[in-house]
Amino acid sequence: MKLKDKVAVITGGNSGIGLATVEIFKENGAKVVIFGRNRESLDKAVREVGNGMLAVQGDVRNLKDLDRLFKQTAERFEMIDVLVANAGIAKFATLAEFTEELFDEICDINFKGAFFTVQKALPYLRDGASVILVGAADADKLGRPLTSIYSATKAAVRSLARTLSAELLPRKIRVNVLSPGLTQTPILTRDIGLSADVRDKIAQAIIESVPLRRLGTPEEMAKAMLFLASEDSTFFLGTEIAPDGGLAQISPG
Ligand SMILES: NC(=O)c1ccc[n+]([C@@H]2O[C@H](COP(=O)([O-])OP(=O)(O)OC[C@H]3O[C@@H](n4cnc5c(N)ncnc54)[C@H](OP(=O)(O)O)[C@@H]3O)[C@@H](O)[C@H]2O)c1
Repeated sequence: MKLKDKVAVITGGNSGIGLATVEIFKENGAKVVIFGRNRESLDKAVREVGNGMLAVQGDVRNLKDLDRLFKQTAERFEMIDVLVANAGIAKFATLAEFTEELFDEICDINFKGAFFTVQKALPYLRDGASVILVGAADADKLGRPLTSIYSATKAAVRSLARTLSAELLPRKIRVNVLSPGLTQTPILTRDIGLSADVRDKIAQAIIESVPLRRLGTPEEMAKAMLFLASEDSTFFLGTEIAPDGGLAQISPG
């Protein structure tokens, strides 16, 4: 029980990597709060994961929703030990095709949303808390066509872990990044701005560039989340863990 009686808030805890993280946190004794837009999947997660979990509906782009998330969390559980700013989207387009609307949508959810999730949680974070941001394994290291704004938001999130860790050092709040490689979650079949055909071709090309030649599982990401959330990682600060089958580090051979 690595998180016994710890309070954990997970944005995007109603799907994919976030949901797998909810499950492993609960198994390890945490009291969990999830946040997302989709009422149906929030309710489903509460039913499946079990009693005592609080689900708050809202959008990370809306600062009033974030205020409400942390107010309701504090009313139920008081202080927060672990914050996982996991909510995010993946949408892609060429430089020529990018609209201002799409640019804003990706930045507002992946970067602005993550930043204000941490800011709004701050009054409720216990000293020594663990904050986990979610990046993407090779986004800040490798240029891939169509990914300009998505990659920029994930590079920005990677940067935030360093700067926020520095700023929150007096309170010993650790901010780290979990950067998944391509992982089998619903994000792969959502509207990512490309036709299904192009999307599948790109996914296949990425799998072929993964030395382990497969997608990651949400459970593999959740195990790394548990490590970053728990006392096992107390010497980790402003850094990144990237479970990616070797994607960002090793030649596929
Ligand atoms: N799967 C991968 O291959 C991969 C690779 C690298 C990085 N990542 C990152 O991992 C994180 C989790 O992704 P996933 O693969 O688990 O995808 P997912 O299954 O699509 O989950 C995304 C979660 O984010 C929530 N979300 C999205 N926009 C939101 C908003 N505006 N406000 C509140 N919640 C919002 C969604 O909830 P609602 O639908 O209810 O809003 C959902 O719970 C993301 O940050 C993603 O960029 C994933």
